Order: sequence, then C-alpha cells, then structure tokens
Amino acid sequence: MTPGVLPIRVAVLGAGTVGAEVANQLLTRAADLEARVGAPLVLAGIAVRDLQAPRHPALPKELLTTDAESLVLGAHIVVELIGGVERARELVLMALESGADVVTGNKALLATHGAELFSAAERVGAQLNYEAAVGGAIPIIRPLRDSLAGDDVKRILGIVNGTTNFILDRMDEHDDTFEEALAEASRRGYAEADPTGDVSGADAAQKAALLAGLAFHTHVPLESVSVEGIERITPDQIRAGRETGHVVKLLAICERVTAADGTVGVSARVHPALLPRRHPLASVRGANNAVFVEAEFAGSLMFYGAGAGGPETSSAVLGDLVSAARRHVIGGPGLAAPPSSGLPVLDPGLVTSQYQISLTVRDEPGVLARLAGIVAERGVSIETAQQTRAGVGGTATLVIGTHRAPEAALAAVVTALGDALEVAAVAGVLRIEGE
Ligand code: NDP
Ligand code: HSE
Repeated sequence: MTPGVLPIRVAVLGAGTVGAEVANQLLTRAADLEARVGAPLVLAGIAVRDLQAPRHPALPKELLTTDAESLVLGAHIVVELIGGVERARELVLMALESGADVVTGNKALLATHGAELFSAAERVGAQLNYEAAVGGAIPIIRPLRDSLAGDDVKRILGIVNGTTNFILDRMDEHDDTFEEALAEASRRGYAEADPTGDVSGADAAQKAALLAGLAFHTHVPLESVSVEGIERITPDQIRAGRETGHVVKLLAICERVTAADGTVGVSARVHPALLPRRHPLASVRGANNAVFVEAEFAGSLMFYGAGAGGPETSSAVLGDLVSAARRHVIGGPGLAAPPSSGLPVLDPGLVTSQYQISLTVRDEPGVLARLAGIVAERGVSIETAQQTRAGVGGTATLVIGTHRAPEAALAAVVTALGDALEVAAVAGVLRIEGE
C-alpha cells in the first residue's frame, strides 16, 4: 500500500454485465490500479437487488449488499451500474450531495436528468464521469469534451447501437429479413430480452442527446431528438441501396445546421440512412460501434470499437474511476461544465436532407418525365434517377435520389408519387447521409 496515502473507498452499484466486471477488476488488479492512482482503491461493497442470485465467481458474498444508500454514503467514489432512471437518479444525487465523485455508464439517466445531475456535481465540485455511456469501450466523451474543446465540431455521424448494426449487417450480407436478423441477434446474445429500445432507435437517441450536448456545448433535451427505428426496413430497401452503391445504417446524427428558414442551431436525430459504401462508417460490421466526427480544424476523425460487453465497457468505467481517484490524490476542483453556447435545438421539420425514393412504376415511355414533374412541382430537385430492374407485369423499379429538401416537401412528394397512376407502389424512402 502506498505509504502515507489514505485508501479511496469505491462503491459499485450493480453486479450485472458491467458492474461484476468492474468489481472483479478492482479486486484482481488492485496493485496496478493503485500504481496508476497513487493511492489504493478499496472496493467498499457492491449493491444488488437479490443477494441469492448467481454471481461472478470472483465476487466475495460479504461485499454484496441490498443497502445501496449506506454504501453510497460511505464512499469517496460511487460507480453507478444498475441502469434504469429513477432509482439511479436518487442514488447518484445522494452520492454527489454527499461530496462523492460519480462514474456511470447510464445513458438513459443522463439523457433524461443530465442537466440536474451535472448542476449538482458542479455545485459541490464533484466529478460526474460517463465515458461508458456512449460507445461502450470507445473513448468518445473525453475526446469531445476535452480534446476537441478548442475546435468547432460541425457534424457527428454515429453507429452507436450494436444490436441494430448487427441486424442491418445481416440483412445486407445474408439477405435476411428484419425478423430473421433480429432472431439471430437474440441467439448470439446481442439483443436484449426486450429489444424494443434498440430497434426503435430509443437507445441511440439517448446517446445522440449526450453527443450533441457535448459537441455543441448546449443542452439537448432527449425529447428534441427525432427518432425512427429500423423495424420497417425491408430486404428490398437494402437491395435498392446496394444497387446505388449504399449501405443502410442506423445513424445518430448531430449537426450544427442552418435551417431552411435561416435559423442556425443544432439538430440531433436518429434514423436509418443510406451511406455510400466508400464512407468509413460503411465498413463498421456486426455489433461494433463507431463515431465519425467532422471538425473545422481537426478534419475527419473516426472512433471505432466494441460498443458493449462487460470487459470492454469496464475499460471505460475504470478510466473514469482512475481519473476521479487521481483528483482525490492530487486535489483540485471537479470538472466545471463549459458555458453554454446557447445554440437552439432546431425543429426537425426545418432540417433538410437528401432522400432516396424507391418506386415500382409502369415500364412505359414518358413515365420518368411525368414523375420528375411531380417532384419538381413540390420544390424538390432530383439529383439522380435510375431504373434498376424490370419487374413483373410490365413494371420496373425506379430509384430517385433528391438534392437536400425539407421533410415537409419530401412528404408532399411521396404522397403525390403514391397517388400517381404511373406508380404501382412506393417501395421505400430513406435519407442519404455522408455524401
Ligand atoms: P445488468 O442488467 O446486467 O445489471 C444490473 C445490475 O444492477 C444487477 O446486478 C442488478 O441487481 C443491479 N440493480 C438493478 N437495480 C437495482 C437497484 N434498484 N438496487 C440495487 N441494485 C440494482 O446491467 P448492465 O451491467 O448491462 O448495465 C449497467 C449499466 O451500464 C446500464 O446503465 C447500461 O446502459 C450501461 N451499459 C451497459 C453496457 C453493456 O454492455 N451491458 C454497455 C455500456 C453501458 P441483481 O443482479 O440483484 O438483479
Ligand atoms: N443495447 C446496446 C447496443 C448496448 O445494442 O448497443 C450498449 O449500449
């Protein structure tokens, strides 16, 4: 033990996938961690709900407790890994108000109550670290908050949900339907027992709110993030994308934008999108995550790695823990939040995107010209039009790529195309990103 240095008491809340691994490492790598911190880290206890549940074999039973409050109040640093929102909020606030630093991987908590918790941390001069909350093992919170603090981030495109990336990848590589790919994700243990939060985009939206807030130094409420999931993506849409050189990805997109009405602000949204196959994010396969950052001076940066998993996520948690513990050794204040830039979060309806519209049309002379007229009459400009395949009964697949257009104009175009006699069906509409 380092002579003359008091041990730092660490409370771990939760002994699930991540909590058990963090506690395990605090026990088995104690000497290494002490050397990095300059003081011993003592695991004061591990809060759980069920003392009888089977546990990681390295966790001594006597460290487990259901009395999370007493554990929190006796700790210098609290590591919150129970998940969920309301109980986690109570325990994190209790920890901060008692002067403890907090490390959490809980994006749902921070996306919902971040403003309250960060202000509590600032009031008492404590750290509230959350590197694991976005992208699991991938360092992205600190790079955005610290390394890029002197740059101007223009845009972030993130693949921040491993389950949905795995599903879309299977649909692309193996021509699976959504249901088949989801079943395979469940079989491999990627999808949660209830995968709704993943496939609906809700998990990615929480992460988008955190990334946008950091990148643009402004508060981005979760409710302001527009969300579309991948439940309705069809093999035909994946195929149409492939034929135009794209791959479908669920993207978290955070941008500084000038809206159609001239307002400058921030947009944060999650939706499936077509990415050109040459884009670096197109090569992110399986359940991996990646965050692509475009900054004014740094240019393009990509952060890539495992977005989940006990050992992988514990790397990010322990990094935050060592950082908080170092402050106990060397002193100094917690991290003050940077002043707000005051950038407003824009109404998603004001933000423009490029779209790809796949249509099943009558394969006859003059059809393309008539449909082009319908698009133009609604103020949307066509960038590309490609007849990809002859279909059954004298039909063909026509894929129209547009220039940037507001969502409302695009919706009017899609309705009018759907009503046109030449169109048998609107097979799908997807935004195009990363061109
Ligand atoms: P798990 O569901 O595997 O584990 C949760 C643990 O918390 C369990 O041990 C459970 O106890 C305990 N717990 C739940 N509620 C309470 C409560 N009210 N009081 C005391 N203990 C409680 O979660 P994960 O480890 O997967 O995730 C933890 C956090 O990390 C979440 O916020 C998640 O979003 C985040 N995260 C997870 C990643 C992953 O790969 N799993 C990746 C990145 C972030 P018991 O065992 O007794 O039921
Ligand atoms: N359910 C999440 C995913 C886990 O699939 O990426 C990490 O947040």
